[in-house]
Amino acid sequence: MSDAATGIAGIHKPRGLAGDAFRLDGRVAVVSGGSKNIGLEIAAALLQAGAHVVITGRKRDQLIAAREGLLELVPGGEVTTVVGDVSAADGPERIADAVHGRYEIVDVLVNNAHLTGATRDIHTFDIPREVFREVFDTNLFGPLELTGRLLKPSIEAGRSASVINVLSGAAFRTTPGLPGYSSSKAALWMLTRHLAEECGPLIRVNAVCPGIVTEDGQPRFAYGRSLLESGGIPMGRIGGPEEVSAAVLYLASDAASYTTGAVIHCNGGRSW
Ligand SMILES: NC(=O)c1ccc[n+]([C@@H]2O[C@H](COP(=O)([O-])OP(=O)(O)OC[C@H]3O[C@@H](n4cnc5c(N)ncnc54)[C@H](OP(=O)(O)O)[C@@H]3O)[C@@H](O)[C@H]2O)c1
Repeated sequence: MSDAATGIAGIHKPRGLAGDAFRLDGRVAVVSGGSKNIGLEIAAALLQAGAHVVITGRKRDQLIAAREGLLELVPGGEVTTVVGDVSAADGPERIADAVHGRYEIVDVLVNNAHLTGATRDIHTFDIPREVFREVFDTNLFGPLELTGRLLKPSIEAGRSASVINVLSGAAFRTTPGLPGYSSSKAALWMLTRHLAEECGPLIRVNAVCPGIVTEDGQPRFAYGRSLLESGGIPMGRIGGPEEVSAAVLYLASDAASYTTGAVIHCNGGRSW
């Protein structure tokens, strides 16, 4: 580069981030499991950034209450609720049809709904296949099918979009009592990598990986308490769901325009 382009020899003139790099004004963002906890905070962050937000979940009342809370936070914001079960055979299709009934194109999809599964006191060999299957239907096949159905029109129209899958530390280490959950989140991580490779450059596919996160910042289980007491969390505390939503906002926005196939660990520095 000439001196004129670079200023002082070898030092380029900084371009800086676009002022609206973290804004999502007018974009459509769908959050599965957006009616509580992490999903609700993700919906809030996307709404605050200017997106039209669609929250999904199985319980209508919970969705309605969540929508009220979101509109209190951002009066005049656009929040749509869609009742649906991502684990049902026709669930992703029904959810996508309902979303497309209102918005032709989806710009951001957050696959957040999950199931841990009732497997805590059972040896892995003794877990019935249907229990494993329900966990995989929710945590792997739901996100896969929802992504395909919701983003097809974007791909056909040559529009860019961002998908964020919500993982867990369980994807990277064993979690006693939750072999189905751990395996399904590990599979979701590899699916994230595959889709990032197959859907680029238009569609970016990334993941966030929450650590132990509760709404009141208090560990809910003995495991979280002992981890905290033993110094296993360098930040020295449990996380809040809004601390995950900030990472999702980054990945959803143009600020992450060169980031795909990545995972951001929001876990207080815990090793994984
Ligand atoms: N909290 C943590 O400490 C933690 C740690 C690591 C990873 N994560 C991950 O973070 C994400 C959110 O966790 P969370 O603790 O916030 O979950 P949560 O409080 O249990 O909320 C789950 C949300 O998903 C919805 N949902 C559950 N099953 C669904 C289904 N089959 N179809 C559609 N919606 C469904 C729920 O609404 P309905 O019940 O009405 O459907 C709810 O809105 C999950 O992917 C989880 O694996 C959480």
